Amino acid sequence: MKNSLLRTAWAQSNISSPYSIIYIKMLWGDEMQKFIINGGRRLRGELALQGSKNSSLPIMAAALLCKGECTLHSCPRLTDVYAASRILNWVGCKCSFSDNTAVISSEFIGRTEISECLMREMRSSIIFMGAMLGRAGECVVSVPGGCELGPRPIDMHLAALRKMGVDIRESGGSIICKAAGGRAKGARISLAFPSVGATENIILCAVTADGETVVNNAAREPEICDLCGFLRACGADIKGDGGSRITVNGKKQLHGCEYTIMPDRIVGATYLSMAAAAKGELILTNACVPEMEPFLSVLEQTGCSVYTSDNKIYLRSGARLTAVKERIRTMPHPGFPTDAQAVLMAALSVADGTSIFEENIFDCRYRHAEALIKMGADIDVLGKVAVVRGVSSLRGASVEATDLRGGAAMVIAALCAEGTTEMTRICHIDRGYEKMEEAVRMLGGDMRRA
Ligand code: EPZ
Repeated sequence: MKNSLLRTAWAQSNISSPYSIIYIKMLWGDEMQKFIINGGRRLRGELALQGSKNSSLPIMAAALLCKGECTLHSCPRLTDVYAASRILNWVGCKCSFSDNTAVISSEFIGRTEISECLMREMRSSIIFMGAMLGRAGECVVSVPGGCELGPRPIDMHLAALRKMGVDIRESGGSIICKAAGGRAKGARISLAFPSVGATENIILCAVTADGETVVNNAAREPEICDLCGFLRACGADIKGDGGSRITVNGKKQLHGCEYTIMPDRIVGATYLSMAAAAKGELILTNACVPEMEPFLSVLEQTGCSVYTSDNKIYLRSGARLTAVKERIRTMPHPGFPTDAQAVLMAALSVADGTSIFEENIFDCRYRHAEALIKMGADIDVLGKVAVVRGVSSLRGASVEATDLRGGAAMVIAALCAEGTTEMTRICHIDRGYEKMEEAVRMLGGDMRRA
């Protein structure tokens, strides 16, 4: 599998781009790499939050809409971001990086078909469908596979685009889209569920559609606001983002811009959970405090001290955490974020008392529980409910990262376990965390990549 993937990736890569070489090495390397973690140390220090993965990906897709050059600051160095850059290079854009700045030139588009191999590298590549329709009025993409979180249907994406006058045919795993007259039409769309991806795809297609589009029951996640902030900087006319009703007036053309991507609120929740579990102290800078409130309000119930000021969050966790009395229900924003469920569960697995989680967004987002149990946690999963009884200590073990946030949860557990943990399949973690082992070492943890 890996060899064929490598061959295809090599064939697909824009070989002139140095990042494709790095990418190939990462692809090869990641399969074999592992984390070695020795637990039991208190973590203490200051960490600047990286740019948001879940903002960067739709914003990179949105750059496709602009005839010109877009400069993105605070762009995180992640394998998912490199995968998005390869899609941009494949369709004819020029995407390059220097440190945490990405420069994307979309003067000309040479292809409107995105290869299956590139689409399959990450689930969220489906947002290139809306962007390509917004730019060229047509596209061929492939049905995104399911992922570790269960089936990832796109029925709401397709229904909305059809309402915008896009003819969509599915054949042999491909989705062939063509806007009547070469340009989508504005429409009134009501989403059955505030899907983040569906909201993004609608906006990406609507910003250059003919007429007004209204999205009811739109997703309210901060990353939607960040995407709209970028698009407004490119000349788009969008109102209401952050609320559940978004109105877009289509423009004929958008121009390039310079934009800074918002901080990653889930990475922030990860390191706060890590420091809380390891009885540590953390100063998180470049933090998006208002956007993190749904997580912070639950974290404070674990007994650690949390103070915020401007874009800083101070956490001190001297003693053992206490269980959260109220059921922790994952909900669309501004509810508790599903992406923070696994990392908080790892921290609460060594708390005093019993906490109860209820996962309402994804079908199977408890795959990390098995690895935590292997490390000594006491967790029962009953459908969408997980009962976490705090134990006095965890023990190091050999584990395999199950998915992006599940893998991060295992790192947290390993850092507060007695003994050594060896973790494979860390490619999952590299999708969303910039060099996690360096951040942990900076905080005094004993973690290395081997
Ligand atoms: C985005 O995924 C995020 N990914 C996810 O983060 C996040 O967990 C999720 O939103 C919820 O906040 C990115 O932004 C790249 P959805 P997305 O569409 O857009 C169902 C991470 O860890 N659904 O809001 O795929 C779907 O199956 C990742 O960074 C349909 O049934 O999420 C899911 O159960 C994981 N039909 C629920 O809605 C559809 O047409 C929420 O999905 C679309 C979605």
